[in-house]
Amino acid sequence: MDENPGVDEQVGTGPGVITNDGCAVEFYTLLPAFGEPEIVDAAVPAGASILELGCGTGRILRPLAALGHPVTGVDDSPDMLARLASLADGAGLPTVCSPIQSLRLDRAFDAVLLASTMINSRPDRRREFLATVRHHLRADGVAVFQQHPPDWFETVEHAEPARDDPGGIRRIIRVARPEPSGMYVEVEYRVGDDVWTHAWTARRIGERELADDLAAASLRFGDWLTGDHAWFTARPA
Ligand SMILES: C[S@@+](CC[C@H](N)C(=O)[O-])C[C@H]1O[C@@H](n2cnc3c(N)ncnc32)[C@H](O)[C@@H]1O
Repeated sequence: MDENPGVDEQVGTGPGVITNDGCAVEFYTLLPAFGEPEIVDAAVPAGASILELGCGTGRILRPLAALGHPVTGVDDSPDMLARLASLADGAGLPTVCSPIQSLRLDRAFDAVLLASTMINSRPDRRREFLATVRHHLRADGVAVFQQHPPDWFETVEHAEPARDDPGGIRRIIRVARPEPSGMYVEVEYRVGDDVWTHAWTARRIGERELADDLAAASLRFGDWLTGDHAWFTARPA
């Protein structure tokens, strides 16, 4: 049971469409990839088919397609998927508009990707996401995850609040407040005169809890892909 029903509300503000989880379509269109496609590409076989859950505008999915992977993107925001399709390198990429938790496609993939720290959702939702990952993974497939690095929960409170990211994006941490279950954060993104905000609670996942959640979905931990433990793999149990 969720001990605080309000804690997982995700809220976004700013120009253009804001998705159910507070993400801004316009902002995600401007946001470049920061090496994520290369991490995923290195973790899966060459030419592996990849299903990305929560693909947004295809920031990671489109470069993966360019790297030679037959990709499929899933998102519950029709606006995100419409934007993906309108981009030069996104046109023609297959997408499915669906909540991740209820997605049950009639096919399996070599790799399933759950990036963007979506695994740091509340525990019941996380388990639903993992069940969907497993359902769409071939018996010899690999699942790739991006979580908040465990250290992030100790350091974000004290991090430099403002940072300039590639793409002319100024990122300002307005609030980083520890909660019993993780970290409540409010972030502001500035691009030129446009300002977006996004507020959410990131759930901390201990290694024992992660192993239990993976096992509940008939998955088992694979490898850490990055030294900060932000990226890891899992395989069918
Ligand atoms: C933080 S954005 C990341 C998008 C993309 N992975 C990236 O890194 O650019 C999360 C995306 O997941 C989608 N999303 C969030 N919760 C979802 C759910 N339960 N089912 C389907 N899509 C969801 C949102 O609409 C949004 O496009």
